[in-house]
Amino acid sequence: MSRPFIVAIDGPAGAGKSTVSRILARRLDFSLVDTGAIYRCVALIAKRQGVALDDDAALEALLQTLQVSFKVIGEENRVYLGNEDVSGLIRTPEISMGASKVSSRPVVRKGLLALQRRLALAAEKGAILEGRDIGTVVFPDADAKFYLEASAETRARRRYEELFQKGVESSLEEVLADQRQRDKQDSERAVAPLKPAEDAIRIDSTSMPLSEVVRAIEKHVLEKMAKR
Ligand code: DC
Repeated sequence: MSRPFIVAIDGPAGAGKSTVSRILARRLDFSLVDTGAIYRCVALIAKRQGVALDDDAALEALLQTLQVSFKVIGEENRVYLGNEDVSGLIRTPEISMGASKVSSRPVVRKGLLALQRRLALAAEKGAILEGRDIGTVVFPDADAKFYLEASAETRARRRYEELFQKGVESSLEEVLADQRQRDKQDSERAVAPLKPAEDAIRIDSTSMPLSEVVRAIEKHVLEKMAKR
């Protein structure tokens, strides 16, 4: 049996990856692996267990029992830790920062590789993985690779709107400052830093509606699927 069709969608926070990936997964009937949510789950468990975000031995132990799964319900991609729905809990500014911190630990990145690959390869038809290093590290041989970007202001505004809709209190200035710090951490870390794969198709969504981004990606994916 051939493996599922793998689509990698990488890019910085707020570039539209989540929205685009969710719509695309539904349109193509692919499963969706939100790899950022996995790092967020690690940060959440570390917080609950009182594990310091730079304690490699404790983080490694924590990964041994990590059970993350996803379920698309209506418009949403819900995230589960075991049986617990943690979708809301992992989106707070504190956990966002924690996820960025744990993601700089090589032991965490290495420990999550197999899980990310397993979740994608369990798909029937195809899988969309969204993250920072999917096209470069997790699936360097993905069938289609995209790198989404947008100006810092546009990304912060999108994130702010998203938080507002979820009822999370914040200000645009706070979101922008957090984003700047996370961008710096994510792109300057030694292991698997955020950068486009050489063979990724780059899409700047600053002045593009996300529906247009979806159409562009879908067109490429359908063309590649037809050739496979
Ligand atoms: O996409 P997100 O904002 O939910 O990701 C949360 C953090 O996890 C982000 O700051 C960087 C990290 N991350 C990563 O290092 N590699 C990935 N493939 C996905 C996320």
